Amino acid sequence: MSTRQADIRRYLVPVNTTSTQQLFTDCLVIGAGIAGLRAALEAAEHCNVTLVCKGTFSDSNTWNAQGGIASVLDKADSFESHIDDTLKTCCGIGDAEVVARVVKEGPALIHQLIEWGTEFDRVNGKLDITLEGGHSHARIAHSHGDSTGRGIAESLSRKVRQMESINVIEHFFTIDLLTDEKHECIGAIGRRPSGSLQIIWAGATILATGGAGRLYRETTNPECSTADGLGMAWRGGAILRDMEFMQFHPTTLYIAGASRALITETLRGEGGVLRDCNQERFMKEYDPAGELAPRDVVSRAILDRMLKTGATHVYLDIRHFDKVHFLKRFPLISELCESFDIDISRDLIPVRPSAHYMIGGVKTDAIAATNIPRLFACGEVASTGLHGANRLGSNSLLEGLVFGKIAGQSATSLVNGAVKAEHHRMQCDVPLSDRSRLDAEDVRNSLRALMWRNVGITRQETPLTEAAEIIAFWQRYVMDKVFTNSFGWECQNMLTVAGLMAYAAKERKESRGVHYRQDYPERDDKNFARHIELKRE
Ligand code: FUM
Repeated sequence: MSTRQADIRRYLVPVNTTSTQQLFTDCLVIGAGIAGLRAALEAAEHCNVTLVCKGTFSDSNTWNAQGGIASVLDKADSFESHIDDTLKTCCGIGDAEVVARVVKEGPALIHQLIEWGTEFDRVNGKLDITLEGGHSHARIAHSHGDSTGRGIAESLSRKVRQMESINVIEHFFTIDLLTDEKHECIGAIGRRPSGSLQIIWAGATILATGGAGRLYRETTNPECSTADGLGMAWRGGAILRDMEFMQFHPTTLYIAGASRALITETLRGEGGVLRDCNQERFMKEYDPAGELAPRDVVSRAILDRMLKTGATHVYLDIRHFDKVHFLKRFPLISELCESFDIDISRDLIPVRPSAHYMIGGVKTDAIAATNIPRLFACGEVASTGLHGANRLGSNSLLEGLVFGKIAGQSATSLVNGAVKAEHHRMQCDVPLSDRSRLDAEDVRNSLRALMWRNVGITRQETPLTEAAEIIAFWQRYVMDKVFTNSFGWECQNMLTVAGLMAYAAKERKESRGVHYRQDYPERDDKNFARHIELKRE
């Protein structure tokens, strides 16, 4: 792609290796969701690891994941079936080898999680696995009802904290990956909790920074999901792939002024129905599978219904649910509804779609390696090929678990070869901008509104072009600044990545999976049964 403002800067801050605090580690893991934690545990068996995250262990998409983790956990189910369901959902551009590997490695790693203390829900001693849209068998394991991500993350975090070979630094904001003259990744620069800059030299670096939901005004993602890993990987020269594929979740709680909490798909799986503002059920008008149609179909149907009725949202109706079962099975959502005085046996739950999961990301191969030597990626920041153009529900925690392990293994084989963390002499100045002062908060809010409006659930050429131009304009006076705080660096990452998403969405002149073009509503296998890859020139 043509490089413009987003590419002028290699580093967001001046890098001076003589005047900055330094630390050496065999393996640097950036991010502490399921993929980062699992990668750190794997690598720590063989080398020393530094695990950094920009908040605490509870600031991740993993921690907030409700529905569950998909895997073949029942005799009546089979690998072939899970592979088949996943590939079907990929809409023609999934990587069959990757899918088979993730599916086949899943059950053993889930049993390992259980050994490590994850409490998956059970009935009569057996795992209580449930069915979700797109899966032909019950294969979704859940923990504490709708707190699956948290259940998994807590057991992994406990184990990480017990490992002497893992040095954990929370509240460490990684600003940029460092690369040498051979374009190998040699570590990263970031800001310590104390506020000072810190260089971490690493033999191998694993990027596991999560997603980009906060690029959108409406999102299920926590505040930390600001696309930082994608931004730093782009500046470092990584190939980013499938950036047009942002998955939208159909049902997010919609109460003006309240943060947008996910209302899990499982509720529709267990019989919840959608109604418009006139209380009419409408999903069957859009798809014979009704409320259990694929997420992209349900999201578009809701949007259309909102447009037709002039309403800001639709409703999820679970009034017929057994309240005792609901409280036990969905404690998080029960609490959420209660906090807004929604009595689920009497009231409808106001919902609308929002940005949920970034399918695109840093391109990796089957061993989690990126095109940058010594840099690996796993979890939501990576594009492994598992999801193709549409992610099957509950496959992402599974991917994080499997590819976290793979990335940890790959990093250790590198480090246990001859590759060691080494000091490099680097001096890279960034000229101070003399342009106007900046209200980063205003830019971020405007960007999120623009992405929602123009690069959202349905897309068209003119709004995409307009978005790309506006983003490029904002980039001109944001990318030249040298910030000293994470709010500013996040803003720069968000703008960089938003530009790439708008560009890729404009390039894909067809509809496939989660990417829907109103001006090209059909899938075009002749021209687009392929990935769109972007790399800084
Ligand atoms: O609806 C949900 O619980 C979401 C699950 C997922 O995104 O995998």
